[in-house]
Amino acid sequence: MFSSLDHDSIMILVATPCLLLLYFVIKTLKERLFPDPQLPPGSLGWPLLGETLQFLPTRRSPSPERFVSDRMKKYNPQVFKTSLFGETVAVFCGPAGNKFLFSNENKLVNVWWPTSVKKLMKSSLANVVGDEAQRLRKIFMTSVDRDALKSYIDRMDLVAQNHIRTHWEGKEQVKVHPTAMLYTFELSCRLFASIDDPIHISKLAHHFDIFRKGVIHFPIYIPGTTFYRASKSGDALKEEIRLVARQRRAALDKKMESHRKDLLSHLLVTVDESGKLLSESEIVDNMLMLLTVSHESTTLAMTCVIKYLAEMPEVYEMVLREQLDIAKSKEAGELLKWEDIQKMKYSWRVVSVVLRMIPPISGSFRQAIVDFTYAGYTIPKGWKLYWSPNTTTKDPAHFPNAEDFDPSRYEGAGPAPYTHVPFGGGPRMCLGYEYVRPNILVFLHNIVKRFKWDLLIPGEKVPYNPMPAPSHGLPIRIQPHQSSA
Ligand code: HEM
Repeated sequence: MFSSLDHDSIMILVATPCLLLLYFVIKTLKERLFPDPQLPPGSLGWPLLGETLQFLPTRRSPSPERFVSDRMKKYNPQVFKTSLFGETVAVFCGPAGNKFLFSNENKLVNVWWPTSVKKLMKSSLANVVGDEAQRLRKIFMTSVDRDALKSYIDRMDLVAQNHIRTHWEGKEQVKVHPTAMLYTFELSCRLFASIDDPIHISKLAHHFDIFRKGVIHFPIYIPGTTFYRASKSGDALKEEIRLVARQRRAALDKKMESHRKDLLSHLLVTVDESGKLLSESEIVDNMLMLLTVSHESTTLAMTCVIKYLAEMPEVYEMVLREQLDIAKSKEAGELLKWEDIQKMKYSWRVVSVVLRMIPPISGSFRQAIVDFTYAGYTIPKGWKLYWSPNTTTKDPAHFPNAEDFDPSRYEGAGPAPYTHVPFGGGPRMCLGYEYVRPNILVFLHNIVKRFKWDLLIPGEKVPYNPMPAPSHGLPIRIQPHQSSA
């Protein structure tokens, strides 16, 4: 009897995956050989692999936008289908595609993140949709809104000055990208959780460096894989955040700390509309999510501003003039204020061009929650939908002479709606949008007023993997100004 049971079990164990595989192969072959004309045009590539192998190399190439732009030309400039990482994906293109996805959140579509993100930050905003997402966003918004930001500027200035003293002054060369990584991480630790001890920050930075590499990755949890290492480092980071949160909770209970101290205090004391506080795991996972989403994007934007300023001396001179005027208007040792950031108009236009030229986030996903029609095609429920800032920002129809670095495009009302979307849009638009501006401008102010620089690797490429990063870290030679402020 045992042997016959064993035999049956073995048969089931072998046959089930084989049948599933067979079903999957037949289904995908049918979709490829006899495509439904109601569905968007495009290729689903190879069974299982889809077009992932075509997608990945273009992202590491000098023109990462080509995967999308080639298919817009070949199939349809509004929408095409592909298959990536085992998912059937409709890519929505141009301002109309952006507008459609951004304005149909919770009606036709919901935000969707890859499984690795969901697993690593289970109770975070990345894992919730609809009312639950709105509840979390409302709580976060008040900690990165204008009023909160006003109180952050002087601290940002202090951290920038300390960073430059340690990592730039007295040096002949700086590798900008890894150095800016240290800066943005330290700034987040200090501003989000008031973690000021450099030893504590470098311990967290060590774990974070391993963690961030596995956030968008195949979620294979086997010792030795990138995802496994990221999970382990994620656990260590969560434990550290949990300890800091518990200490803070105790200090708040004893009225030894102000609830306005930082983002962590804000999350610990703010209740939602039904009067409920966030749970400990929600606080921990969301703190980790905010550290993650804010880190590489901001670092990359800062790094690319440095790159373009080296390549365009006339733009550098204009930024320098603006920043020196602000520096001269201040008393010796006086820190930057919110009003100073408002005066950095030309500098922000320069940052906007950089975000257009190299968007730090090359796109994000939604998921169809019902069947619907777009541009005359059916989009089935369950399909993943992708939008990318690259479908408009290099298109001469929206940005004539798109390769020209022209800050004047951002004067007045700026580019047409839905053509410049580095922060996404709609109810799931980047939550840190207001925070990014002072963050980058305070850093830029402190660098530009002290140094001029040139690139040690002229024309260094910035491939995506999955986030963009200069291939050699952007080494530069720096020269302090004669009368450094
Ligand atoms: C240059 C820097 C940044 C860029 C280019 C950027 C861009 C983006 C983009 C494109 C999205 C997806 C939006 C969508 O799908 O519609 C996003 C989401 C998000 N970003 Fe940013 N981001 C930046 C910095 C930050 C910072 C500093 C923070 C936090 C302080 C932040 C917090 C978030 C959050 C929480 C989300 C998820 C929002 C949600 O799902 O509801 N980002 N960001």
